Amino acid sequence: MSVREQLDKEKLPKHVAIIMDGNGRWARKRGNARVFGHQHGVKSVREVTEAAAELGMKFLTLYAFSTENWNRPKNEVDALMSLLVSTISSETKTLMDNNVKLKSIGCKETLPQDVQKKLAACIEQTKNNDGLTLVLALSYSSRWEIVEGVKHIANDVRDGKLDSSQINAEIFSRYLETADMPDPELLIRTSGELRISNFLLWQIAYSELYFCNVLWPDFRKEHFFEALLDYQGRERRFGKISDQVKK
Ligand code: FPP
Repeated sequence: MSVREQLDKEKLPKHVAIIMDGNGRWARKRGNARVFGHQHGVKSVREVTEAAAELGMKFLTLYAFSTENWNRPKNEVDALMSLLVSTISSETKTLMDNNVKLKSIGCKETLPQDVQKKLAACIEQTKNNDGLTLVLALSYSSRWEIVEGVKHIANDVRDGKLDSSQINAEIFSRYLETADMPDPELLIRTSGELRISNFLLWQIAYSELYFCNVLWPDFRKEHFFEALLDYQGRERRFGKISDQVKK
């Protein structure tokens, strides 16, 4: 039986988040510039998006560009930005054909104008699709998001829209970029690195973590299914004991 056939359709996560890592190393291993790895990473993005849509998943969040990535050499940042523009342009039709809605999280204002424009156009065009929501984390970092949420909540308290005694985890979640999304049940990181790197820190409080050695440009549907199968073998206890969650 293939890995896909072994998956329990009733126990699929609604939301999977992925830290796509290893593009640079993949390119270097082939004696190419790092950008070559990013270009090939686009195929893996297509594969996981297709797989998630086929399985009927509701949210797939991809860490495409972190706040810290702005510190990379200018030629790499520029190449990543043009890759985003060209990929969004070329893939919008596929998103439409597969009923996928595009969304982004992160500090959009810091993105170049052409990226902002293409992104906004694709988000607008796909807004009525109700299958998978593909969420691109762009110029995103979790600490940035949490600090923005704190500023916003402080302003609402100051303006009398919210009483500070009402603030709890659920209310605070509504001030984050992911306000209308469920927390990811599963977080995948490729390339053998065992870090979270400032990604969805609040949202992954109870997520299952899955690390694999595959470099992102080599990541295919089969690897995604393997991660899901591994996830399905875990017992999620949310702080309770095993007997309580089995009931
Ligand atoms: C991490 O590998 C990857 C990135 C920072 C960029 C991810 C971007 C893409 C896959 C392409 C564009 C995406 C979309 C959604 C169209 P790394 O460069 O840190 O690899 P390394 O750790 O081997 O150096």
